[in-house]
Amino acid sequence: MNNLKTISQSDINIQEAILQEKARGIPDIEIGRRYGVSFHYIEKLITEKKGINISNFNVDKEIKSFYPKNFTEEKTTVWSFKSRGNWATHSGEYRGNWSPYIPRNLILRYSKEGETVLDYFCGAGTTAVESKLLRRKCIALDINKEAIKLAKQNVNFKFDNTYKPEFLVGDARDLSNLTNNSIDLICAHPPYANILNYTSNQKDDLSNLDIDEFLKEIKKVAEESYRVLKPGRQCAILIGDTRRKKCVIPLGFQFIDVYLRAGFKLKELIIKRQHNCKTSGFWYANSIKYNFLLLAHEHLPIFEKPIKKEQSIVKENTFVYSGNETTIKKIHLKKKFEELETTTVWNFPENEFEKLLTKNVFERYKNPLFIKFPIPEEIQKIISEKIFIFKTGNFCVIQTKDVRINGYIRPIAKEIIDNLKIDTLKIKEIIIVNTENKNFNHQFPFSKELKITHQYLLVYEKIL
Ligand SMILES: C[S@@+](CC[C@H](N)C(=O)[O-])C[C@H]1O[C@@H](n2cnc3c(N)ncnc32)[C@H](O)[C@@H]1O
Repeated sequence: MNNLKTISQSDINIQEAILQEKARGIPDIEIGRRYGVSFHYIEKLITEKKGINISNFNVDKEIKSFYPKNFTEEKTTVWSFKSRGNWATHSGEYRGNWSPYIPRNLILRYSKEGETVLDYFCGAGTTAVESKLLRRKCIALDINKEAIKLAKQNVNFKFDNTYKPEFLVGDARDLSNLTNNSIDLICAHPPYANILNYTSNQKDDLSNLDIDEFLKEIKKVAEESYRVLKPGRQCAILIGDTRRKKCVIPLGFQFIDVYLRAGFKLKELIIKRQHNCKTSGFWYANSIKYNFLLLAHEHLPIFEKPIKKEQSIVKENTFVYSGNETTIKKIHLKKKFEELETTTVWNFPENEFEKLLTKNVFERYKNPLFIKFPIPEEIQKIISEKIFIFKTGNFCVIQTKDVRINGYIRPIAKEIIDNLKIDTLKIKEIIIVNTENKNFNHQFPFSKELKITHQYLLVYEKIL
């Protein structure tokens, strides 16, 4: 019952029965048990039969509130929302849709009332709903007409109807119906290369492409974004990494590269935490046994289309990457400790930050070569000189941090990955380390720039 293409009459009956069970609200796990099918099979069946990838057929759209409770705007580079948000018509029914807290923060920070927001991967219309609630014009397009139908339903509520979103079935690679320099803010959440399929074999659906092909097509989206955006304005894109053969594929950084090549500057590089990761029991045991971390973050780069004329830049009081801090340390720990981190986001209390970070690195990667804050241009030389002492299965861990220089982010972690090219060294993990401080959002005043609070650990493994 794995191939939807070649099916017998009895399979057709089973498929109909599964769809009826879904319509009655029976959970996928129960349907899977009754019919001997996987979760993936149910998802594929729904996408093929309904033309849209939804998790639930009967979502209650009764509006209880138009706003999130106790909302405060994000002020640091780590965005973390414990619940996904269910105000207005927002729900998790459209698979892989983004939390409404993300477009809300983006729209508030980077646009004004009455301005135009563009989302060219509209899905079920989360951005369009937030634009309406925040009184912005919105142009929302998606390749799938069924998604657009659902998005139209989602914005169909009585509020202030001054700014009704405009919907189009269209292709993000071709925005020819939009004029140059006409958009105030782009915020979009693309499909991730071949991870979640939004349609069954629909031509032009980028979710059906493999990574290389996907990045080639995204280049066209980046170029169109640059053309339609007004100079000096922002384009925010949420993108996650993926895994192949127990190693991370830095799709987020590759994606950033494509947009930078299209002419954009990097205004912010935000980490969006994911909270639906399982971290105990079976997952904990396997994370240790097979030495991998569950992906628990996505990247949210904010690109800016530069204004052509020289901008006067305010000199900022931020950490400048000097390279003076390059140190290579090998620490031997006597004491074992019980709990290791199991996801790609390590959040430690301020007073124990260094201790817990070091312990986790050395326990999990068994006395690696640990390099702190190297200059990206020197990383190839530093490691080449040490590579002869590496045995297969040994690790090298690089600690680093992005920096802001003259108003733009220099993405040091990305630059290190770009510069380090040694055939026998494979990037295994990109880990985000962050200081646990629940009051950060209250502690800092609102400022035009986010406070960079996260660091990275880049974990490389010697292969062969
Ligand atoms: C991650 S989803 C977006 C979800 C959306 N942010 C939401 O909250 O509902 C990505 C969307 O991109 C759409 N898509 C795929 N290829 C496209 C293309 N070439 N042009 C426009 N949309 C496309 C898919 O149909 C899917 O709805």
